[in-house]
Order: sequence, then C-alpha cells, then structure tokens
Amino acid sequence: MLKFRRSILKASAGLLLAGPMFVQRSASAQTLAKTPACDDSPTPRQIEGPFYTPQTPRRSKLVDGLQGKSLVFEGRVLTTTCQPLANAIVDLWSCDSTGEYDNSGFKLRGHQITDANGRFRFETLMPGSYGNSSFRRTPHLHVKVQGPSTPLLTTQLYFPNEALNARDSFYNPVLLVKYSQSTQQLKVATFDFVLPLLSKG
Ligand SMILES: [Fe+2]
Repeated sequence: MLKFRRSILKASAGLLLAGPMFVQRSASAQTLAKTPACDDSPTPRQIEGPFYTPQTPRRSKLVDGLQGKSLVFEGRVLTTTCQPLANAIVDLWSCDSTGEYDNSGFKLRGHQITDANGRFRFETLMPGSYGNSSFRRTPHLHVKVQGPSTPLLTTQLYFPNEALNARDSFYNPVLLVKYSQSTQQLKVATFDFVLPLLSKG
C-alpha cells in the first residue's frame, strides 16, 4: 500500500508542499454530519482487474478529446467515524463508451488528491460495457483510494438503472453511485468512500 502512495505522490511531485494556506484549510475542517454512506462500514473492496496503469497524471479532466456521454464523478473520502480525509489519493480509470481501455496512454485515467473537506471531482465519460456473450461487464469505474493513514482501497463503482448490473457477478449495490443530475448528454454521479484509519503503534 505504501508503494502505491509513493508511486502516485511521485507523479504529483511538489503537491504536498502546497504551503501554509493548504495546512490552514486542513486544520479548519469540520466534522461532517453522518450520512448513510458513513456508518462505520468501510467501502467494500473489489478486484483491480487487468487494466490498471500506475503513475497516472494528477488532473481532474480525463477525456482527452474522446467522444461519449459526459460524466462528472465527485464525492468525498471519509473515515469510518465520518471525518473528512484530506490529502487522500483517488486514482480513477475506466474504459471508453465502446468498452476499450487505453493501455498505452492515460486517456480516461488520472488521480486527484482530496481537499481539506475530503472532496474530489473528475470530468470523464460514461464507460460502456465489455466482454462477450458468456461474460459481460456492466458499466463500471475502477478506483484506488488511500489516505495518509489508511489501507489502500481498490474497488469498482456501478451505475443505477443499468440492465447489465443483474448479470454481472462483480456487481454490488453498495457500490452504486448516486446521480445528482442525469440527462442524455451529462450525468453527475456522487460517491463517498469510507476508509478505516490504521491503528498507531
Ligand atoms: Fe473494468
């Protein structure tokens, strides 16, 4: 897990040296009201899959000129006691609308580091489904999340109202995003990750 943080922080060189203003914002973070996503249960893990590429660029816009339905994916990283986790890494990757992953570059790949309120935001595309007639993946996002004092979470997220959800053996309704906006052209999906803190000593 430390290898993941080292690798990704290297890709974000200089990021954690953002200066006194950043530290001040972190110190003033408020305790958030409990939400259904934050009830002492960490976000479930799922397999990484074969298409992860390490050392992604730190950026919020992942589209790189690809065509497809726009997806804004945003949310928070919280502890199991609902504290926002600042400086958590959220590393996102997904296939394009035809089910293809960019395995030679970083299209639809990138990471963010959460702000003082544990928030992150990406602009990407709605992923398509892929597979064959006997094994088909429903549309999903892949993500790795790690706070400064948490284990590494590797998981996948799913979308409401997808016909293939019921046929995908990896599908878990706990990992459904919520739409705050859903039109033909744009979906805004939210999800709050919940991670345990590593015990000290
Ligand atoms: Fe996948």
